[in-house]
Amino acid sequence: MSQIGENLLKAATLLESDELVGIPTETVYGLAANALSDSAVIKIFEAKNRPTFNPLIVHVVDIDAINKYAELDPISLKLAEAFMPGPFTLLLNKKSIISDLVTAGSAKVAIRVPNQMMTTKLLMLLTFPLAAPSANPSGYVSPTTALHVQEGLKDKVSYILDGGPCDVGLESTIAEVSNNQIILHRTGAITAEQMESITGLKVVANELTNKLASAGQMKSHYATKTPLYRGDIPEMIKEYANKNIAVISFNKLYEGLNNGHQYVLSPNSDLNEAAKHLFEVMRCIDEFQFDMIITELFPDEGLGIAINDRLGRALEINKQ
Ligand code: TXA
Ligand code: MG
Repeated sequence: MSQIGENLLKAATLLESDELVGIPTETVYGLAANALSDSAVIKIFEAKNRPTFNPLIVHVVDIDAINKYAELDPISLKLAEAFMPGPFTLLLNKKSIISDLVTAGSAKVAIRVPNQMMTTKLLMLLTFPLAAPSANPSGYVSPTTALHVQEGLKDKVSYILDGGPCDVGLESTIAEVSNNQIILHRTGAITAEQMESITGLKVVANELTNKLASAGQMKSHYATKTPLYRGDIPEMIKEYANKNIAVISFNKLYEGLNNGHQYVLSPNSDLNEAAKHLFEVMRCIDEFQFDMIITELFPDEGLGIAINDRLGRALEINKQ
């Protein structure tokens, strides 16, 4: 079993020797390796059982460091200055120092500046950036604690830096400036409205995220092992009265089902709090022998948009 701790020097030394280290970020935990070393990066794909056609996000210490690895056009710079460090990833034209293994052959690299003190300190100790996908086996729910990383990856990760539970709890927003528009590749804590108000440009959803495509845009993702359905909770409680049901709801308990089987993400109707607890709850339910999970649509605003997206990808009907 991999060790969990707060030893930054140990983490840095392991990364310098091309080993994998679990790192905390404000979104979810990452499985990090030296982004400039192909022999380190290949270990990420192996440990996660991730197809090599699915590219990785590169994590750097600050906006200045982005320039070493990618071209920051003026609009992307504006977005970076507004939202970095933070739960925000930019797709940028890569410089040749970033290998095709990291970008899966694409001329674009995904870069982000995490806003988590321990990982910032780690990046300051290193002379290279960190490639890091979410630290879960490919296809499963992203980890929001060090323990989740350990449970999912066992001894496939050398060490896990423990920075406590993630503040945001959902993966970063991914955006790309293209033809005077902003393409939203993944929803997250930074919303389309925020990007529009900073740049004055229109934000368009990436078609791929809606349809079904290669790379990380797989429709099914983040899935629980327990089949998940979305609809009208009171009606579904009645319809599946003979099943062992768990409910994931936004802000309230429903009639007709044992309260112990109901997971209310935010009794105060706070979407940020709901986002922070979502993945933990999905994992927790998988520990029990429920026949199915029933959930509902969350308010379509702020982090509710990203919550609906992640739950949507976990639905039984979207499993391949
Ligand atoms: O919040 C986050 O972004 C977390 C933390 C650890 O930073 N990372 C994360 O990584 O969610 P991952 O690998 O689980 O998701 C990254 C997504 C994938 O869907 C991948 O396909 C996409 O970003 N991506 C990465 N590089 C890309 C590229 N060059 N072009 C297009 N999509 C890219
Ligand atoms: Mg992931």
